Amino acid sequence: MEKSLSHVAIIMDGNGRWAKKQNKDRSFGHYQGTNNVRNIAIAAEAMGISVLTLYAFSTENWKRSAEEVNYLMKLPAQFFDAYMKELMEKNIRINLIGHFDRFPIDTQRVLKRAIERSKDNTGMVLNFAMDYGSRDEIVNAIKDYTADVIDNKRANDLSVNEFSDYLMTSEFGDVDLMIRTSGEVRLSNFLLWQMAYAEMIFVETHWPDFTPNDFKECVKQYYDRDRRFGGVK
Ligand code: FPP
Repeated sequence: MEKSLSHVAIIMDGNGRWAKKQNKDRSFGHYQGTNNVRNIAIAAEAMGISVLTLYAFSTENWKRSAEEVNYLMKLPAQFFDAYMKELMEKNIRINLIGHFDRFPIDTQRVLKRAIERSKDNTGMVLNFAMDYGSRDEIVNAIKDYTADVIDNKRANDLSVNEFSDYLMTSEFGDVDLMIRTSGEVRLSNFLLWQMAYAEMIFVETHWPDFTPNDFKECVKQYYDRDRRFGGVK
């Protein structure tokens, strides 16, 4: 039935295990994982996908060692220094969902600059979920909605579609396809509302090894599936 593919979300898992397999530090896995963001973003853009949302840092990732968190905070600079020029040439717009203001000032500056530089681009949106957690997002949406009702900005008559407008993804809508790498089969607090009808694909490959061809294979599987949205064919 529904065969369009607009919004793809990826849980980029397995950087640490990938590095460990070759007796390297976890940070080397994150380094290669960041380079792979470029490969998959370019492939997604070429395939005409409208929005690619990547889970880059969860609200739970603060629990990692200070050393690892510090390293993760440097990834945006690594990424945009290396690839921003190419992303601009591809007309890709950078967006962020998550908290943002809890990051070190330098990291915030790098992210703001990428968003600002690309804000007029009209091609694919490369949407990073950073310091993002879906339950946190939903609770904040409820607070915003309640405030609007209390302030008499609207009636207490919320619909499902209107609730989506209170989420950080209001501009992008539901997820069509979710891919998680590295063999774990769970959602880890990622876009829970937006994935109500998403097709999900879990692959064994660790994120740094996940190639554009693997990505294309997932998209092919998506098109082979029969999306019924609770209806009958
Ligand atoms: C999960 O692997 C991966 C992360 C927590 C970080 C993902 C971030 C990137 C790949 C780059 C982000 C890029 C930008 C520009 C912000 P893991 O460490 O949980 O792996 P493990 O499960 O094997 O330990």
